[in-house]
Amino acid sequence: MPRHVAIIMDGNGRWASKHGENRSEGHLAGKESLRECCEYAVEKGIEYLSIFAFSTENWNRPADEVAQLMSLMASSVIGEMGTFRKNSIRFRMLGDRSAVPADVLGPIEEAERETASNTRLDLFVLFCYGGKWDIVNAAGKYGRQCYEAALRGEPCPSIDVDGFSRFLETAGVPDPDLLIRTGGEKRISNFLLWQCAYAEFYFTDILWPDFRKIQFQSALDSFAKRDRRYGQIK
Ligand code: FPP
Repeated sequence: MPRHVAIIMDGNGRWASKHGENRSEGHLAGKESLRECCEYAVEKGIEYLSIFAFSTENWNRPADEVAQLMSLMASSVIGEMGTFRKNSIRFRMLGDRSAVPADVLGPIEEAERETASNTRLDLFVLFCYGGKWDIVNAAGKYGRQCYEAALRGEPCPSIDVDGFSRFLETAGVPDPDLLIRTGGEKRISNFLLWQCAYAEFYFTDILWPDFRKIQFQSALDSFAKRDRRYGQIK
């Protein structure tokens, strides 16, 4: 069983067109899949679930869709509080908080406070997140430490891979073991670039709103058959 599963939930728009609906209906249906997958992750003893809800590139979508995704985030975190409580899910946003409108950040931070002591699943919602942003932001934090050291007349503190990881949004969290992407595309789209260095990839043509427990189990079955060597010879 993977400890950490990451998901790129793609295909909401295509699911909506297939059903003669507008794109917003696709995102609403996607929310149902997300709830089902969170509950299944808890049932399976998965410890961390990271989901890509809004990327740094999604700002380039039409303004009305951006607004809908923003308000869906705000209403979902409040509306799903019962799900978080019932399943002991700890919610946290990973991404650029300075880019999140105040009326969306408020509910996000309220949900983080309310769920902080839950223990069964860490749900990381990557929102206003980009893998390149995460790495550059981490480099900036390290740069500031060097600058402060220089002001004290001290050398820049040396750093290794583990040390650098502590500046990333995922500080202290084990890297994803399994990365799932729905919707047929086979790319990483600026998701957890650093953190997926050794993730097993699972791509499926299923559109996100159709990805439910059974499809999640198929991804877990595929993962169970993988031979993870981490660059070594077994
Ligand atoms: C990709 O589908 C999906 C998104 C950009 C948004 C993901 C949001 C949800 C699943 C709803 C849950 C919401 C929150 C805020 C937690 P797409 O629109 O790129 O689909 P397409 O490739 O078919 O156009």
